[in-house]
Amino acid sequence: MAAKQRSLWTPSIAGQFEPSADVALLCGDARETLVGVPDGVAKLIITSPPYNLGKAYEKATELGEYITALRPILDQLIRVLATDGSLCWQVGNYVEKGQLFPLDIYYHPPAFRKSWL
Ligand SMILES: C[S@@+](CC[C@H](N)C(=O)[O-])C[C@H]1O[C@@H](n2cnc3c(N)ncnc32)[C@H](O)[C@@H]1O
Repeated sequence: MAAKQRSLWTPSIAGQFEPSADVALLCGDARETLVGVPDGVAKLIITSPPYNLGKAYEKATELGEYITALRPILDQLIRVLATDGSLCWQVGNYVEKGQLFPLDIYYHPPAFRKSWL
């Protein structure tokens, strides 16, 4: 059987996870779109989740509420991440009453438990 012809200029793009596609663009709420992605297929995940700073696309909430809201997405990302994969979870700092909380710290325990750090 002839090998699939691949081209940087004409990639095959799927609207859902499709192993034979070069690219899959899953548009929508990550809590829903990630469910359709199989376990362990992602070698590299680069994220830019909301930072809880009260930007135009978000409503800033209390720190615990923010972390809890993002956990289902993080759990899905950990599920789809390959055992030798890497996850870049790009977040900043949460500031309340002049105190600065580096958000990475709050994500470290689940990440460490799953052994992907
Ligand atoms: C920090 S911004 C990302 C900015 C982006 N990297 C850029 O350069 O424009 C976070 C983005 O996540 C989106 N977002 C928030 N909740 C989401 C969800 N459940 N699923 C998918 N996207 C979400 C927001 O609408 C916002 O555009």
